[in-house]
Amino acid sequence: MVDYDVVVERRGTASYKWDRYGPDVLPFWVADMDLPAPPAVVAALEARAAHGVYGYSLVPDSLTDAVRQHLLSRYDWDVAAEWLVWLPGVVPALNLACRAFAAAGETVLTVVPAYPPFLDAPGLQGRQLATAPARLARGRWELPLDELEAAVTPQTRVLLFCHPHNPLGRIWSAAEVAGVVEFCRRHELVLVSDEIHCDLLLEPARHVPSVLAAAGAPELTVTLMAPSKTFNLPGLNFAFAVIPDTGLRRRFTAAGAGLLPFPGCFAIVAAEAAYRQGGDWLAGLVAYLRGNAERVEAFVASELPGVTATHVEATYLAWLDAREWRAAHGGEDPVQASLQAGVALSEGGAFGAAPGFARLNFGCPRGMLDEGLRRLKVALG
Ligand SMILES: Cc1ncc(COP(=O)(O)O)c(C=O)c1O
Repeated sequence: MVDYDVVVERRGTASYKWDRYGPDVLPFWVADMDLPAPPAVVAALEARAAHGVYGYSLVPDSLTDAVRQHLLSRYDWDVAAEWLVWLPGVVPALNLACRAFAAAGETVLTVVPAYPPFLDAPGLQGRQLATAPARLARGRWELPLDELEAAVTPQTRVLLFCHPHNPLGRIWSAAEVAGVVEFCRRHELVLVSDEIHCDLLLEPARHVPSVLAAAGAPELTVTLMAPSKTFNLPGLNFAFAVIPDTGLRRRFTAAGAGLLPFPGCFAIVAAEAAYRQGGDWLAGLVAYLRGNAERVEAFVASELPGVTATHVEATYLAWLDAREWRAAHGGEDPVQASLQAGVALSEGGAFGAAPGFARLNFGCPRGMLDEGLRRLKVALG
């Protein structure tokens, strides 16, 4: 039995999340969890560390098989070994995709709000960014297919798509994803589907990869996945792309030639242990995160006037709309006010959202979450 309530001290561990702010701040910003990885992963890493020789690695067939089994058993997706491209992270893959599938000056499209590297990657790679705003309808964020239609031009080459969505917490419906595939097919776009959060569905739903959402999707889709969010291993730098189409795969790997390190020896053993032995831990985690999501949603609704939180269907990230609070406080920034009360949130502007939005990471032990919410009430209540 894993106890997800246990607090592990992370200050002073070179943690980006904890060591960025002073000792008095509780961090609810960057997307890693304050929970230890599955015991089987820790044991595999200890065994590998004890070996003492940390040379260059070759991804073993056993890891390839573990990834294929994971995709088959959880998503009914039968992936050929040669479709897999190993990566040091999903963010490098977003950047590579911009280079691989759009020429200099051509356009990469995405929905906003977006995970910030979606907004940065096109410009970093000398491509143009175009955005389509998600729509809030009856308290739920919807995929704006009409806005995508309005934003696409003959220069658009790529759609960066996040499924399920960070920061909106949406599990896009089958119809929405099929609509995206059809949109990409009609405009001859490469669909880069970042599915890094797909194991963290808090609803009793099954994730449907974009590539399975509509006929013709395998010819135009690059799927990006990783064990890093699922099993809380982001500091190990490991991810993979699944690219069934040979031509797209060649273009993608050519864009990364000479740039990407091969996965490290610790990442390899951790990923295999996670996929082979992490299932029960993951089921417990998802139940725990669901409890945390309910706590955040109920708290925001009852304790923070002028702030709303849409229902989190997936991820451990809540998207808060504090525009009313901001207007009632003469334009004060709710993220700065929270920081002064000792809670670090992610500022919505970095996601391409209007002032007043913020993201709260609730992937932590419940006692820590409750203390963070208590402080938020001081700041915003
Ligand atoms: C949608 C999405 N993609 C990618 C990443 C990061 O991926 P990596 O650490 O593998 O670069 C995150 C982390 O928050 C994310 O939310």
